[in-house]
Amino acid sequence: MATILVTGGAGYIGSILIPKLLIDGHKVISVDNLMYEPTSLLIPALHPNCEIIIGDARDRELMKPLIEKSDVIIPLACLTGAPLCNKDKSAAIGVNRDAVVMCSELSTSNQLIIYPCTNSGYGVGQDGIYCDETTPLNPISLYGRVKVEAEKALLDKGNAITFRLATVFGVSPRPRLDLLVNDFTYRAFFDRAVILFEADFKRNYLHIDDAADGFRFAIQRPELAGNCFNLGYSEANLSKRELCILIQKQLPRFVYLISEIGEDIDKRNYIISNNKIEGEGFKAKRSVDLGIKELIKALPLLKRNQFANI
Ligand SMILES: NC(=O)c1ccc[n+]([C@@H]2O[C@H](COP(=O)([O-])OP(=O)(O)OC[C@H]3O[C@@H](n4cnc5c(N)ncnc54)[C@H](O)[C@@H]3O)[C@@H](O)[C@H]2O)c1
Repeated sequence: MATILVTGGAGYIGSILIPKLLIDGHKVISVDNLMYEPTSLLIPALHPNCEIIIGDARDRELMKPLIEKSDVIIPLACLTGAPLCNKDKSAAIGVNRDAVVMCSELSTSNQLIIYPCTNSGYGVGQDGIYCDETTPLNPISLYGRVKVEAEKALLDKGNAITFRLATVFGVSPRPRLDLLVNDFTYRAFFDRAVILFEADFKRNYLHIDDAADGFRFAIQRPELAGNCFNLGYSEANLSKRELCILIQKQLPRFVYLISEIGEDIDKRNYIISNNKIEGEGFKAKRSVDLGIKELIKALPLLKRNQFANI
């Protein structure tokens, strides 16, 4: 049993990951300032091995003793996404980069940090060429830049495994409807229409349970420290248009129109190879079809226009 410190534990990924870590038999400490859904950890909070701290991951006095008593540190606290970072740039730098670098500085070589970077760090990919971990990073937004800078500091120190996560999808106790699959399925379900821009821009996607399972895999494989890995569902390097076609299969009355009404701040257009992590024995296995099906079941429970980061 390990003691695992998770910052941003009440967030979209954290509130799925923490119950799984408790089931695995670990002791979990969550630090979150509860920017969004205050009840996302209500049930895990009751577990005897779970400690919930409402606090700021930038607070050195708070974090130092917590880091000292942890075997594994998973820094998820974040202003997540490019639009939110642009709204408060100094907080984005403080939380997304400096607080992560602080975790790294306060940790020792026998502690493992597992960090989610983003594969939006690849920026604009080249047509038909898969981005792997050797592909130069070219983050465009502030969000992409600070995530990549934090990842570099962690890898330089050597006691971290970093994941360049694909765009995550699926249902969580802290719903996020600003993520592409979730957003389009939501609109298809309630509005029956989406206007697509950059319709043929491609990205890789990852089911939220596979994201959590990737972290659990890394906990078992501390010898991989010093490595970064792309982490996505290899069968889903999909354009927005292809994603809409998948949604249409399950919601046949859904229509999409193409019009250049906007652009992605991160210019995400790339295809991703997940061969490196798959070569180590971890493969994301849950499909986008499954995620859409789950979302369609869960969406009637959500009020409209809640649960976006911006
Ligand atoms: N969801 C994705 O598609 C995706 C993809 C790539 C990388 N990631 C990374 O995974 C991590 C988690 O993402 P998420 O989707 O769960 O985001 P999220 O926005 O749902 O969760 C972030 C959590 O951090 C908390 N937080 C923010 N500032 C804090 C602070 N100063 N102190 C303590 N807590 C603070 C928030 O309250 C929230 O609960 C982020 O680092 C993100 O960059 C996510």
